[in-house]
Amino acid sequence: MSQLIEAVIKDKKSWGDYFFVTFQAPELAALAAPGQFVMVKVSPKGPPLLRRPFSLASADREEGTIAIFFQRVGLGTNLLSRYSPGEKVSLIGPLGRGFSFEDLAFPGELLLIGGGRGIAPLYYLAQKLKERGLKVIIFYGGKTQADLPLKEALAKKKLADKLILATEDGSLGFKGLITDVLEQEVLSPLAKKAFVCGPEAMMKKVAELLRRWNLPGEFSLEAFMGCGFGVCWGCVRWIKRGQEYQLVRICQEGPVFSREDVKWSEEE
Ligand SMILES: Cc1cc2nc3c(=O)[nH]c(=O)nc-3n(C[C@H](O)[C@H](O)[C@H](O)COP(=O)(O)OP(=O)(O)OC[C@H]3O[C@@H](n4cnc5c(N)ncnc54)[C@H](O)[C@@H]3O)c2cc1C
Ligand code: FES
Repeated sequence: MSQLIEAVIKDKKSWGDYFFVTFQAPELAALAAPGQFVMVKVSPKGPPLLRRPFSLASADREEGTIAIFFQRVGLGTNLLSRYSPGEKVSLIGPLGRGFSFEDLAFPGELLLIGGGRGIAPLYYLAQKLKERGLKVIIFYGGKTQADLPLKEALAKKKLADKLILATEDGSLGFKGLITDVLEQEVLSPLAKKAFVCGPEAMMKKVAELLRRWNLPGEFSLEAFMGCGFGVCWGCVRWIKRGQEYQLVRICQEGPVFSREDVKWSEEE
């Protein structure tokens, strides 16, 4: 059950165009799960009227907080980046279906593969997987090192047993695409599942590799969202239901889908 609340910003960190904002929101923290998202009203009055969707990057039930991690890319994220601690923001959430990880047990090894801002839901998921004592390998890629601002927090909080970084310009970690590194990875027999979020081209390539390796995977998809809760049908995508593909509302039935259910190309 999602809630509409006015949440006070408790903390805000920024690195260039990236922001990590923590809200005091016990109602949402109590219900949140990794892979779910919130619809944020970025402007109290005036444009843009439509809320913007952001994955939950963290939720702490004891502290009563949730967090989002976002990249400033346009009008809405620019407005959101200007809020300060103490100010209130209207949130609806938690929305959608998150990652399935409850059946995973030690000594399983999980691959978390994030591109740029796509690290957001994986950052939250990694916290939950580590709480369960699972081995977590994080692949985190971006264009330059400025696109990997959560690398220190991932290391400091020990959210990854192995953290593999890649930048297209070679300014940090492996030079190239994160999918190039992944392709060279020798898959451990303990590898159980992959969780993926990032640009569409990256996710498509990862889906191909997982199919080759016969490794299950879940992908957090993005779509333009008008409402975030199933009313506008603005977020549809072809998803396999039974033997055929159907147009499915990402906000309601996703945003997380398993690899084999997503139509990655017209040929499928
Ligand atoms: C379920 C879900 C979870 C998301 N989680 C995060 C997150 O954790 N962190 C984060 O930074 N972003 C996330 N996004 C994307 C985020 O919602 C958009 O970047 C944001 O809405 C852009 O708003 P804007 O007004 O700043 O950009 P606009 O001014 O509306 O657009 C600026 C540019 O961004 C592109 N864009 C806008 N919305 C999207 C979108 N949904 N998908 C792809 N491209 C888009 C536009 O084509 C345009 O080029 C998520 C999207 C979805 C659907
Ligand atoms: S965003 Fe409105 S139905 Fe999905």
